[in-house]
Amino acid sequence: MKFAVFASGNGTNFQAIVDAVKKGEIKAELVLLFSDNRKAFAIKRAEEAGIKTLVVDPKSYTNKQSFERDVVIALKEEAIDFIVLAGYMRLLTAYFVKEFPKKIINIHPSLLPSFKGMEGIKDAFTYGAKTTGVTVHFVDDKMDHGPIIAQESLKILDSDTLESLSEKIHKIEHRIYPKVIQLFAEGRLRIKGRKVEILDAPQFF
Ligand code: GAR
Repeated sequence: MKFAVFASGNGTNFQAIVDAVKKGEIKAELVLLFSDNRKAFAIKRAEEAGIKTLVVDPKSYTNKQSFERDVVIALKEEAIDFIVLAGYMRLLTAYFVKEFPKKIINIHPSLLPSFKGMEGIKDAFTYGAKTTGVTVHFVDDKMDHGPIIAQESLKILDSDTLESLSEKIHKIEHRIYPKVIQLFAEGRLRIKGRKVEILDAPQFF
């Protein structure tokens, strides 16, 4: 199985995925890091790890569909089987999602459906939530919306700052995302409507 990671920024999740592939914890081939942002630090991480990079700047296109079409062509050329979004801060259209049906997963730093969007950690913190967490889900064409694969919660303590909370959330992300990717690669995730069954591992998370 070949996969691509999409990242727009720092790429700590991408790094965790690279490390898990190297350790053999993810038994699939990470063939491409795609970014929509030339300045993403994730690109440096990929170069360091010897992983091919592709940057396509949406600003050089007049519309979203032609941007996405070029990305799809590049992914098909690489024979990508599935796509892992790791801090990819751009909504995929129905066109793109249909090109890779049930083959795109995303991680989000809140307990969905609460606190969707770009600032999941900050929004939960400033809202005064007592519990937040991490969600990994299949991607559809709505923001942070597709069927949920895994969630892990954590308490927001009175002593937490946005920084300490962010650190805890990222730690959870880096631990659970590689596990979900491996489950996907093993073909153990079954979507049934809004629910996702994990085959042979009912208590996995
Ligand atoms: C992660 O916390 C990820 O959950 C979040 O962006 C961050 C990227 O960090 N994604 C979203 O908010 C998607 N809606 P990273 O670049 O260090 O991996």
